[in-house]
Amino acid sequence: MRAVVVPEPGGVEALQVVDVETPEPGPGEVLVRVTAAGVNRADLMQRQGFYDPPEGATHVLGLECSGDVVALGEGVSEYTVGEHVVALLSGGGYAEYVAVPVGQVAMAPRDIDLVDAAGLMEVAATVWSNVFMMAKLQHGETLLVHGGASGIGTMAIQLAKAFGARVVVTVGSEEKAAFCRDLGADLVVNYRETDFVDALDEAGLKADVILDIIGAKYLDQNVRALNTAGRLVVIGLQGGVKGELNLNRLLMKRAAVMATSLRARPTQEKAAIVSAMVAQVWPLVAEGTVRPIIHARLPLEQVRDAHQLLEDSSHTGKVLLTL
Ligand SMILES: NC(=O)c1ccc[n+]([C@@H]2O[C@H](COP(=O)([O-])OP(=O)(O)OC[C@H]3O[C@@H](n4cnc5c(N)ncnc54)[C@H](OP(=O)(O)O)[C@@H]3O)[C@@H](O)[C@H]2O)c1
Repeated sequence: MRAVVVPEPGGVEALQVVDVETPEPGPGEVLVRVTAAGVNRADLMQRQGFYDPPEGATHVLGLECSGDVVALGEGVSEYTVGEHVVALLSGGGYAEYVAVPVGQVAMAPRDIDLVDAAGLMEVAATVWSNVFMMAKLQHGETLLVHGGASGIGTMAIQLAKAFGARVVVTVGSEEKAAFCRDLGADLVVNYRETDFVDALDEAGLKADVILDIIGAKYLDQNVRALNTAGRLVVIGLQGGVKGELNLNRLLMKRAAVMATSLRARPTQEKAAIVSAMVAQVWPLVAEGTVRPIIHARLPLEQVRDAHQLLEDSSHTGKVLLTL
């Protein structure tokens, strides 16, 4: 089968479409024929040699896909051959076929094109597990999302609004600001022009929950932006890994700082997240309140262009590879 691998870490030219052996579904696994795969920022880091797959995972890139079930491993009775599914992967999505533990598979939402459904799983599972399961965002609270126009950001805006929260986002351009406003964000801050802590102060707001993809560079500002009993969840480190944490400010606010990685979680934890997320999010997708925001759909052979789009940050929402 065709698959994308990175023989030597590097720029987009390091991505190679090669022929590899088609995987077989092991016990408890489902074999999916991939219709489309989502491109995630983590894939860029893996390509550059900064984010190795977890032990035992394939070196083929790709953390999510949509497709149809073509074979079932021993002990799997939850799906039948031919069903349309989406899957959260530890790797292997940029390929014609991928074997995935059954708990990381979900029925593709009806009424969503199967190609576009490839952009749902990673962002919905990440936002659900961090914003709702860990940080416990409540109706009427304020959520600050950094990178509102990212794949993650576009899902966070929609889900937080659907659950009755106020949403503040940061973006790097006016075009992205307009997009986030249209998607439902209540306050949009262009971080290139305005300090987001000042913008929140001006609006008379503090953040009850922050979904942060920047890390060290925003740590101090994030803690200043937090409300009393606020929860800062760091899921990305685009602005570095080591920062200074003002513990006194944290203590006076009785606030918490958390950090997680979805890919590194054991299969059972991923399965619990997928099941909780599907129960809460799929009904919203079915009624049209939440949808995948797709910037581009490119054939697998254009994987270098797909990575370049994310590298340039010229995209809004998700970039997909079609098989
Ligand atoms: N821990 C986990 O389990 C997990 C899971 C999924 C994703 N993530 C992380 O979540 C982040 C988003 O992932 P993605 O795939 O959705 O990536 P993406 O679509 O490429 O988005 C990256 C975003 O970062 C924004 N950005 C860059 N510098 C910024 C700054 N100084 N302030 C605010 N925003 C800034 C960019 O917005 P502008 O163009 O507007 O600057 C862009 O929208 C990545 O860091 C990824 O590693 C973590």
